[in-house]
Amino acid sequence: MCGIFSYVGKKEALPILVDGLSSLEYRGYDSSGVYVVGSNCVKSVGAVENLRKKLDGKENTFSGTSGIAHLRWATHGEPTEKNAHPHSDCSGKFWVVHNGIIENYKELKEHLISLGHIFKSDTDTEVVPHLLEEHFKRENDFEKAVKQTLKDIKGTYGLVIAFKDEKNKIITCRMGAPVVVGVGVGEMFVASDPSPILRHTRQVIYLRDGEIATLTPENYNICSLDSTPIARDPEMIEWEVDQIKKDGYDHFMMKEIMEASDVIKNTTRGRLIPENGLVKLGGLEIVADKLKDINRIIIVGCGTAYYSGVVGEYMIEEYTGIPVEVEVGSEFRYRKPLIDKNTMLLAISQSGETADTLEAIREAKRKGALAIGIVNTVGSTIARETDAGIYNHAGPEIGVASTKAFISQITALAMLTVFLGRQREMSMVTGKRICEEIISLPEKMEKILSQKEEIKKLAEKYSIYRDFLYLGRKYNYAIAYEGALKLKEVSYIHAEGCGAGEMKHGPLAMIDENFPTLAIAPSDSVYEKMISNIQEIKARKGKVLAIATDGDERIKELADDVIYIPKTLEMLTPILSVIPLQLFAYYMAVSKGLNVDRPRNLAKSVTVE
Ligand code: G6P
Repeated sequence: MCGIFSYVGKKEALPILVDGLSSLEYRGYDSSGVYVVGSNCVKSVGAVENLRKKLDGKENTFSGTSGIAHLRWATHGEPTEKNAHPHSDCSGKFWVVHNGIIENYKELKEHLISLGHIFKSDTDTEVVPHLLEEHFKRENDFEKAVKQTLKDIKGTYGLVIAFKDEKNKIITCRMGAPVVVGVGVGEMFVASDPSPILRHTRQVIYLRDGEIATLTPENYNICSLDSTPIARDPEMIEWEVDQIKKDGYDHFMMKEIMEASDVIKNTTRGRLIPENGLVKLGGLEIVADKLKDINRIIIVGCGTAYYSGVVGEYMIEEYTGIPVEVEVGSEFRYRKPLIDKNTMLLAISQSGETADTLEAIREAKRKGALAIGIVNTVGSTIARETDAGIYNHAGPEIGVASTKAFISQITALAMLTVFLGRQREMSMVTGKRICEEIISLPEKMEKILSQKEEIKKLAEKYSIYRDFLYLGRKYNYAIAYEGALKLKEVSYIHAEGCGAGEMKHGPLAMIDENFPTLAIAPSDSVYEKMISNIQEIKARKGKVLAIATDGDERIKELADDVIYIPKTLEMLTPILSVIPLQLFAYYMAVSKGLNVDRPRNLAKSVTVE
């Protein structure tokens, strides 16, 4: 989730561009860059502050009234200066900033190299300016070259393109990544969201997929990829900047929960091949042969990442036959783990910086294990120190309590299961079934998210209680713990996760009318067992809020309240069942008036022991 900001007008562009980037920083960044059309380009790793320092005293070398700027959140290529945007072609005439992923960039890059183009970065984006250069040779027209280039690329993009020889024009286009055009008086803006535009104008146009807008200081022209003109009036923005950053929600945590269906799409984009029952994971290609010889997997993570690992353990063992253990990083690093060259350590981490997870990787590597990662933050320490890995592509997560990253981690683990399974005994039919079910998840997810108001009411109803038990079994065992963790983290209410079978070995003693239970009881292979547990709780006057599968009437008779989720493959139910628990925790905390995005005593990334 990169941030783009661009300007074409009559004022000096540089200060406008740099300020615009600063107000987009909340979207996450690892580097930034600015190109003032026909003048100069500057890039820097880290925060926009570093870019400002680099520019200090050199501002007069950036004279010009249009320009494009970018904050990068890496997807392809390390967060280095050479990979920072804007990117240009060989002639230095075409300049591009991009948010999204060009899926077919490898083929395009090879083709362009064969034509003599020289690439300066490792990014997918750089194919765009080189394609523009190629098409311009034939078309001799900026706009036509853009349209031809868009025909070549597959994937998602919010792009802004500048051409050195036409300083009063920038072109922007959208496919799957947000682009907002700000319409001012004698000036136009482009950004990933309206927050950096608002200080200049409240008149905006939200581009739609497949649309191209050509902007000059006085005018905007919108057309489709096939050049059909599109009439569109600007709309007035009523929101304030803070609301925009949170997509209109009150908190980042809510925004991030509501992104769940997009997160599944982004994590799986270009990776599922249902027709052959296969999963393509580019980041594992270099170790694919080694993975065939792996006979043991140790999954390591902390907090929420650890719980996703437990779901992963169940999936991988059931579908690949490889023995799996899961451990928290803080334990693994201090004991004597038994590891050999056929052991694979799988580190799961949203931030890629968690100290205990990182030390577990170092320890495993010292002992000769292959280390791979499921990491959200590209170029993070864990991403760099593992031998290979899968990036989540979930976008930056700002709420301290992890929500969307968890959805993405389990999705990635399901893909890894198919990947490893198909290297072994898994049939094409099983691979196909899992892929198809993953593809159907975003729609099912939307159905759950649309029940948020009902979940809010339930949270209000249960907010009088001080203690909660969370019960789950088999695939939802870890979800019971994750649900309890979410409640503890954001609402400071005591909650215990428990494997349902263990309930009678202790936790049941706590149950009375003041100690409610959240029971995750989808219609799966352990449903009957969960029903018995719910009966045991009811017999002790405990209140039960159940998560059950659509159409389950029986559970209504038993539980006090039920939240329904759609049916899916048993191994994938955790992706759906955790959402009501995230929403429940969120609303419980909100009902107590707490700062959900920044719970007391907790940090987003724990980089010390
Ligand atoms: C902290 C965060 C959690 C997160 C855990 C692991 O405790 O508050 O939300 O699950 O760290 O972080 P990682 O970045 O390694 O996934």
